[in-house]
Amino acid sequence: MFLSASRWRLSRRFLSSRRLVPIALILGFALVLTFYTIHIQSLHDPRFYERVSLQVPHDPASLSSGLAQSPRQGDHLIPHKIWQIFLTPPEIKEARPEIPQKQRDFIESWKVNNRDHEYHLLRDNDTVAFVQENFAQNEALQKIFAGKGSAAMKSDILRYLLLFAIGGVYTDLDTVAWIPIDYWAPREYRSTARLIIGIEFDRLEDENWKGVHHELQFCQWTIAAAPGHPIFSAMVARALKLLGDLEESYGKPFAEIKPTTNDVLTTTGPSAWTDAVFQELQKIDPSLKSLRDLSGLKKEKMIGDVLILPIDGFGAGQRHSGSTRLGVPPAARAKHKFHGVWKGRESRI
Ligand SMILES: *[C@@H]1O[C@H](CO)[C@@H](O)[C@H](O)[C@H]1NC(C)=O
Repeated sequence: MFLSASRWRLSRRFLSSRRLVPIALILGFALVLTFYTIHIQSLHDPRFYERVSLQVPHDPASLSSGLAQSPRQGDHLIPHKIWQIFLTPPEIKEARPEIPQKQRDFIESWKVNNRDHEYHLLRDNDTVAFVQENFAQNEALQKIFAGKGSAAMKSDILRYLLLFAIGGVYTDLDTVAWIPIDYWAPREYRSTARLIIGIEFDRLEDENWKGVHHELQFCQWTIAAAPGHPIFSAMVARALKLLGDLEESYGKPFAEIKPTTNDVLTTTGPSAWTDAVFQELQKIDPSLKSLRDLSGLKKEKMIGDVLILPIDGFGAGQRHSGSTRLGVPPAARAKHKFHGVWKGRESRI
């Protein structure tokens, strides 16, 4: 009786508002100190300085000179080439719009981190030339790239074609390089990895998302590959088949279709990419039963010649999927800034 009454008084006193003020102050101070420490740590991480340089961007090498040179790749199977794509959607009237300054800074992060890589930025006219040169026999591809039509879908297909025909790293214009590409594969996998892919979304135990895969989705904003990987031929075949179905359901040729975001995701984009990749992974490792088997990866996983990075590999800073929100997680190779180059210009790419 006496004990519990005194304990009650004690906790009352402890929780009195006058007591709460210093406690709140101490907690607040601790919180500020934690955030400050994380910020200082990321400043001291050498990768922080390499992220974005303020140098004036130099002219990207032309596509044809890239095709002529053979890559120097050290112990890597991934050619020393970086590919980026900047297509103008049909609804933009300017013939050759400027690349926004923010994206030019992001581009610089790729060049500065990878000084021995050839850098290529493909515009609309380069695209047509590349497809004519490398996929001359494929009429469906010729038709897609020669005419108008969704820039988002063309950009999706083009990255698969580039990595299939030539290889290297494809990365969207709203991505930032964190570490040199040569360090993306852990040393033990460097001489065997022919494809490096990251995870965009991992449901873990959370709710499902609209528009993404049920359990897990691979990202295609950044992909590294040695040329000729069968995943790309499978992906392009799948995309061409699905585009044919889309033309039929819209009753229009590709050039006249204005696809919805969902059309893009499921035909050429990350959802279709996830299906194609997983089907090929299952061929390599039949014990894989569902995408769920790749959920919650804490470190890199090698399946055949495919290196799968954990969520932070290309997807740090997201609010889901177990992604690290603050600082520079050790697994981060590149970061997606989710700026969609054409956002604010009433379109997206
Ligand atoms: C595309 O156009 C640019 C600018 O006019 C030019 O420098 C480049 O060589 C062209 N590319 C091809 C493949 O013709």
